[in-house]
Amino acid sequence: MKDYLLFSGSSNQTLAKKVAEELHITLGKVDLSRFADGEVRPWIQEDVRDKTVFVLQSLSTPMDEYIMEMSLMGDALRRSAPKTMVAVIPYLGYSRQDKQHRVGEPISSRVIAKFIEISKFKEVIVVDLHNDAIVGFFQIPVTHISAMPVLVNAIKKLHVTDPVVVSPDVGGVRRARNFAYQLDADLVVMEKKRFIDRHDVSENFQIIGDVKGRTVIINDDMISTGGTIIHSADALRQAGATSVIVCATHAVLAGDAKTNLEKAAIDHLILTDTIIDSEDRLPKGTTIVSVASTIATAVLTIIR
Ligand code: R5P
Repeated sequence: MKDYLLFSGSSNQTLAKKVAEELHITLGKVDLSRFADGEVRPWIQEDVRDKTVFVLQSLSTPMDEYIMEMSLMGDALRRSAPKTMVAVIPYLGYSRQDKQHRVGEPISSRVIAKFIEISKFKEVIVVDLHNDAIVGFFQIPVTHISAMPVLVNAIKKLHVTDPVVVSPDVGGVRRARNFAYQLDADLVVMEKKRFIDRHDVSENFQIIGDVKGRTVIINDDMISTGGTIIHSADALRQAGATSVIVCATHAVLAGDAKTNLEKAAIDHLILTDTIIDSEDRLPKGTTIVSVASTIATAVLTIIR
């Protein structure tokens, strides 16, 4: 097995430590101090020459700080002659800006891909991208892993009889269909409307399929404001669903999401730890499942 080191940026050190535990290693030493004006000053305190180095950083809020920190860590590392550098990005911020939604806007996730490449990372590991096509924004190899197995396991533990998996929007149908297949469940699709001039606002209009008297499992890639999930849960209840389970990979949980989700008509909320899973961020009663072993497996595949 090749000689390698795993470093963590400051965005999700809990997950980085869990990945290190899975790999039976300790995290590489790095000092991430800041100057008084806020500039980050990474200082790598390991000998990385000829080693494969991994840097784990979720690009969650404050994503602009975290991408800069990761880029500077990349620059610091490459100046010490590692064999190769791999960015491990459990949550890729800006991934919803994956196209030019209107003239005059950037394709932000492509810019993020470029940032990672100019920081001299030679490979990337990502988890449940908002859109698979983002892989194509990178010129370097991308290992795109899925949290689906750990989420499916958590759902199976609830022993739901005859569930229906729901995609809360048309964009999530492929993911929800795979999920439904894993659970041997039916699939229902909802139509969600977004407004180009109103950020983070969505409305649900139609449910395509029957949920009357059934337990529904809403599956999404991320929960940000919670609007999509909360509106979906309400609409599904009105259509006769008896119980609502929600599972999503990325707990973005922006603004009042925590409070709003606590009040929502949801029986079980299952999220992963791609974004820091501190208790103050999570709605009470949330089940968190870890992607640490999935990431560790991807790391081992690269170094073997
Ligand atoms: C959108 O296409 C995504 O898959 C999620 O449905 C969305 O980002 C969730 O956002 P919010 O929680 O703010 O409704």
